[in-house]
Amino acid sequence: VQAESLEDRCQVSPYACQRRTPLAHKNQVLTEALETMAEEARFCGSEGRSLAFSRAASVLKSLPWTVRGVKELHFLPCIGEHSRKIIQEVLEDGTSTEVENVRQSERYQTMKHFMKIFGVGVKTASQWYQEGLRTINDLQAHHAKLGKAQQAGLLHYRDLNSPVKRSEAEAIVQVVQKAVDQFLPGASVTLTGGFRRGKPSGHDVDLLITHPVEGQEVGLLSKVISWLDSQDFLLYHSTHRNASQALEDQELSVSMTAMDRLDHCFSIFCLNYPHGSIKGGSRAWEPGYELKDPGDATLWKAVRVDLVVAPYSQFPFALLGWTGSRNFERDLRRFSKHEKKMVLNSHTLYHTEKKIFLSAASEEEIFQHLGLEFMPPEERNA
Ligand code: GTP
Ligand code: MN
Ligand code: MN
Repeated sequence: VQAESLEDRCQVSPYACQRRTPLAHKNQVLTEALETMAEEARFCGSEGRSLAFSRAASVLKSLPWTVRGVKELHFLPCIGEHSRKIIQEVLEDGTSTEVENVRQSERYQTMKHFMKIFGVGVKTASQWYQEGLRTINDLQAHHAKLGKAQQAGLLHYRDLNSPVKRSEAEAIVQVVQKAVDQFLPGASVTLTGGFRRGKPSGHDVDLLITHPVEGQEVGLLSKVISWLDSQDFLLYHSTHRNASQALEDQELSVSMTAMDRLDHCFSIFCLNYPHGSIKGGSRAWEPGYELKDPGDATLWKAVRVDLVVAPYSQFPFALLGWTGSRNFERDLRRFSKHEKKMVLNSHTLYHTEKKIFLSAASEEEIFQHLGLEFMPPEERNA
């Protein structure tokens, strides 16, 4: 007998931004199966099919009960025919043959392997697969044409595929705060992404930098990057500057919503361990850092870091946009557009009928503008 009433079950929203989704949920086996199917569809370039599986998984993640029968699915949004079939198989047999076949397929395994290289996306991975390449060794032997990011990705493959712990993320915050303090005292460094949602580990560290005096942040990112580089903290960096001319044309900026026009930098940090602490060892990272000793790889670890700089007035939008999850963000924008006639991105909220930009001093105010109940970061794990 389930505790939830029929009414509770009918109230599951088709938008992730209206569903509270904690990190730990009750339908892991089902969501893993659906997410494998979503991944496989993405590997095939079928974005729509991938999104459908992803949405179905996301709905199940928000349920405060465990789905035990296929009949329960009738109450739920976003569960398509194919997802229903996969769920049914898993519920009845404990496993889905279709999912198992995907997991065992050479193409899926190879694609997954290649896409774990930083800088490699579906296009590159699938091209390499078509050329008959299967392993990392094949890439090197075949002299596959590698971009700068991919070369760094290959060089640090092991480190970048071992999870970043919270203690390591906090150490990176300290390093970046020290760099920022030298050029702009009073600027803040905020940990966003999965760590802000309460994840104990992640694939990277997402940092958002701002300063309470609007305009002071201009030019900060390049100074910070140069300093970090000069101190041997960076193994790779690629900076993207915002197009400030385009910003003056607000109509244009609305039409460019797909692009993130905040200054940002995708980088790989060299995180140093204090004396006596060794990479992979049982001791947690402790505060305090030193310069890299390139001779001994057990004393440092390569860590992916995303740095974003936002003007103060855009900070709440950037914070909301970079906290994730991706499913949550996608639905927040879809909800804004379809239910509110507003365009939301990582720097603004625009009302398309009133033709005005809505300002906000906090994430809470953005939710208010959208007529949404506030969702704390810990419940955005859609
Ligand atoms: P882990 O890093 O695996 O712990 O998960 P995560 O949720 O932190 O994922 P990720 O670091 O990939 O992204 C964090 C958030 O940043 C996501 O919600 C994305 O929407 C956002 N994000 C990532 N890349 C970009 C980008 O290029 N532009 C914008 N606007 N947002 C991005
Ligand atoms: Mn992240
Ligand atoms: Mn990131």
